[in-house]
Amino acid sequence: MLFLFLPLLAALLPGSDNKVGLEEPVSLHVIQTSYFYNRSWVQNLGSAWLGDLETHRWEGVSGTIVYLWPWSKGNFSNKELTEFETFFHSHFGRYITEVHNFAKQLKYEYPFVFQYATGCELHSGKASAGFLRKAYQGTDLLSFQNKSWVPSPQGGSRAKATCRLLNSLVGLTEIVHRALSYTCPRFLLSVLDAGKADIQQKVKPEAWLSSGPSPGPGRLLLVCHVSGFYPKPVWVMWMRGDQEQPRTQPRDLLPNADRTWYLRVTLDVAAGEASGLSCRVKHSSLGDQDIILYWDHHSPAGFIFLAVIMLVALLAGLAFWFRKYWIHHGPLRTRLPLQ
Ligand SMILES: *[C@@H]1O[C@H](CO)[C@@H](O)[C@H](O)[C@H]1NC(C)=O
Ligand SMILES: *[C@@H]1O[C@H](CO)[C@@H](O)[C@H](O)[C@H]1NC(C)=O
Repeated sequence: MLFLFLPLLAALLPGSDNKVGLEEPVSLHVIQTSYFYNRSWVQNLGSAWLGDLETHRWEGVSGTIVYLWPWSKGNFSNKELTEFETFFHSHFGRYITEVHNFAKQLKYEYPFVFQYATGCELHSGKASAGFLRKAYQGTDLLSFQNKSWVPSPQGGSRAKATCRLLNSLVGLTEIVHRALSYTCPRFLLSVLDAGKADIQQKVKPEAWLSSGPSPGPGRLLLVCHVSGFYPKPVWVMWMRGDQEQPRTQPRDLLPNADRTWYLRVTLDVAAGEASGLSCRVKHSSLGDQDIILYWDHHSPAGFIFLAVIMLVALLAGLAFWFRKYWIHHGPLRTRLPLQ
């Protein structure tokens, strides 16, 4: 089972055999949420992500872009970036006005919220054409495909009407197409290049064990916590010797504030079966040095068990030594015929 798993792990863990050491595909994606509270109050929150690493953030209608890393500008010149911001603001301002103007016709009912996901991906070193999706009140509304706006089946007549309007705006599809299939991939490649050191940096996990709330009479919930690792792919399993425990339950994969990750996995066992179990952690930052934590060392009962074993071993050793001593130096010697 472990052997079957290892090639899979190699494929999942970045850095094992591709040169750049990045998880493929790598994407640059931008998410934005626009809250239209009423005709005079709109709030925007946006962020850009390289894989699971946040690179940019903005807030407000005319909010400026915050570059979260020294390399977040890639190799785009300040002039190019300023032009982009200016273009973005003027278009976005006009877009907000248009949404208000067409709200009634397109059946947008205040207060409402739009969510956008857009970006582009890198497959085996090559950037692919980008994507853009938009949702209304949490339901897919439309997407951009082959130079036109396509309504989502869930979007109903509202989506169809919105797409008809967007497709009629001369020049808009051309701008969006160019941004998705030219600017985005170019930016993605240059940001990846500029931020290589930070993106490829690996942070080792820490792991510890605890017991969770008892799942029932005579049962124990063993909890293995793994925290502070980067990048995200990780493998954590409860084991007995080399045997994976298939009832291992992955629980929460949560972000820490410092961009590292936290994972908890649990195993529900009969109280008598906990002894001999261990939690094993594989992560690209650890190389071949998996972290292995033994439940027996963790639990007080385990400590007592271990202490008893050590005492027995000590006594056995003493007894052996005494026996040897007596054979060679004690009264036994005189009775052995060969000596
Ligand atoms: C718009 O909504 C905001 C926030 O709810 C409120 O403070 C403001 O008075 C509203 N404006 C109008 C014109 O309704
Ligand atoms: C910017 O970076 C991209 C990708 O790394 C590269 O192809 C391009 O030549 C660079 N442009 C400049 C002006 O350095």
